[in-house]
Amino acid sequence: MLTKRRYCGLITEKFINKDVNLYGWVNKYRNHGKIIFIDLRDREGIVQIVFNKKNIKNFKIAENIRNEFCLNIKGIVQKRPKNNINLKIKTGLIEIIVYSIKILNNSIELPFNLDDKNLSENVRLKYRVLDLRRKQMQKNIFLRYKITYEIRKFLHKNGFIEIETPFLTKSTPEGARDYLVPSRVNIGNFFSLPQSPQLFKQLLMISSFDRYFQITKCFRDEDLRSDRQPEFTQIDCEISFLNEKKIRFLFEKMIKKIFKKSIKIKLPDIFPIINFNDSILKYGTDKPDIRIKLKIKDLTDKINIIKYKNFLNFEFNKNNKILGMKIQNGINMSKIKIKECINLCKKYNLKNIFFFFVNDIKKNFLNLKFPFFLKKIKKKFFEKIIFFLKANEKDLIFLGIGDIKNIFYIFGKLRLYIGYMDFSIKNNIFDKFCYKPIWVINFPLFKYNIENKSWESFHNPFTSPKKKYEKNIFKNLDKIISKSYDLILNGCEIGGGSIRIHKSKLQKKIFKILMKNNKEKISKFNFLLKALKFGAPPHGGIAFGLDRLVSIMTNSNSIRDVIAFPKTSQCQCLLTKSPSLIDKKQLKDLNITINFNK
Ligand code: AMO
Repeated sequence: MLTKRRYCGLITEKFINKDVNLYGWVNKYRNHGKIIFIDLRDREGIVQIVFNKKNIKNFKIAENIRNEFCLNIKGIVQKRPKNNINLKIKTGLIEIIVYSIKILNNSIELPFNLDDKNLSENVRLKYRVLDLRRKQMQKNIFLRYKITYEIRKFLHKNGFIEIETPFLTKSTPEGARDYLVPSRVNIGNFFSLPQSPQLFKQLLMISSFDRYFQITKCFRDEDLRSDRQPEFTQIDCEISFLNEKKIRFLFEKMIKKIFKKSIKIKLPDIFPIINFNDSILKYGTDKPDIRIKLKIKDLTDKINIIKYKNFLNFEFNKNNKILGMKIQNGINMSKIKIKECINLCKKYNLKNIFFFFVNDIKKNFLNLKFPFFLKKIKKKFFEKIIFFLKANEKDLIFLGIGDIKNIFYIFGKLRLYIGYMDFSIKNNIFDKFCYKPIWVINFPLFKYNIENKSWESFHNPFTSPKKKYEKNIFKNLDKIISKSYDLILNGCEIGGGSIRIHKSKLQKKIFKILMKNNKEKISKFNFLLKALKFGAPPHGGIAFGLDRLVSIMTNSNSIRDVIAFPKTSQCQCLLTKSPSLIDKKQLKDLNITINFNK
């Protein structure tokens, strides 16, 4: 008796002369009069099924079939005639002669062709059910599953256990706004959806679970970008008794393993490490894309700018920095592209941005595109820049002078802009098709918010300062370095973590700084301060953004392409049309009044 169900995409020559039982959707339908071909599709791929008039009953049924009907067929696998072989697909050597067919369901006409590559994202998200049937989306979602499977395997092997933590909870500060859920039973009170399981995972360490992980949803009400979603998935981990170095080593191993197992890519044996400060100086960002070979060079100490003050047409003060960036073979960059670079810097308010070709300097300023005042500067000035940037004949140099507060950031943008150009791929400045991870470590503990006139955590309030700052924690807040680390892959922050404060007293001091001594605000964390007093172990951890990781591994343009049912950049679900207005009765139960006229 034939019962075992097979997948369409897995029927190969091995099955020749055997009976198969398949379920699937009609991908393509071709009626040639005497013979009908159907490409039947399921999650594993496509197989060709054939109806001929020998079985007139089935043929008649087949005549009424259309695209995307859901079918169950039984048939015998045969070799395809030679002129029918299709080597582009796994099942291209065989076809199935149907002897039994059931139409399990019809389909109305589709709003678009599943093969259409130019669909707008809005259409795709509105008809996500169909969009998910498309080959690329099936691939993405399967890979996502494979990755989480490998992660679970790795963490299990390394002694981690998966523990769920609550969604209806108190605020877990990670720098965004909370999503709130009103409580019907406790009128006027709200739960917050977790921005991360941070607090609970620390509590689990105090409860002696030692190695925790969870692949879980986090919720953040923040402005959306292509790599951000209001609800996203973290691979959240926490571990007791290991220092920063050992934690990084362990999770570096995990990332290497999942790349190898899931997409057969070998990442570097050792991931490079860079200090936060150096990353800003070299790359103008704490998320450096090191696939781009360009580096920013601070020339302020090398060139005595004061000496040239009279020639420079702008005021130079002690907050100014002079930065240079050399573009190898920049002589090949088009004038339009160079103009775009200059305009980009100007858009970010860097007025003093110039460029020159090394060639022109060597040929005594010929063709120089400099403003008139710069032309008056002696050749030596340029030669020094060329020397310190180690530039060669064919190189192009960008030179900028501006305030220390933003010039590195602007040069970071310029670096990316040039890096992602076709020019850079052609000139071997940017290798698009590779994976380059880097750890950024030693972030500041605090950052100052000028608008609110208050200190904020760089990571989160539970991050530990380096030991040497503990004694004088209230002093020189901007100089305190934390035990923190982010993992950056191709310019995207895929993970971040830190060693936590495990002493109640120190944690309280940090809260005092962050909450300006406000007792009421601090008391909200009494449960943590208390728990830390019950012999809390030294601990630390990390969380990876699963969506970001998978989108990089699948070369997707947006994390929306690796999430089954994502929100748009306007924070809406076009499929279910949420968020939506709420029923008045529900509001009444919650004792909430909303003025809809506002
Ligand atoms: P962090 O806030 O850095 O750390 O988050 C960890 C990782 O989660 C991903 N991520 C996001 N992905 C998609 N959409 C978002 N809106 C979004 N926000 C963050 C990023 C990021 O690196 N509790 C700490 C972790 C820890 O210290 O252990 C935390 O949440 O890839």
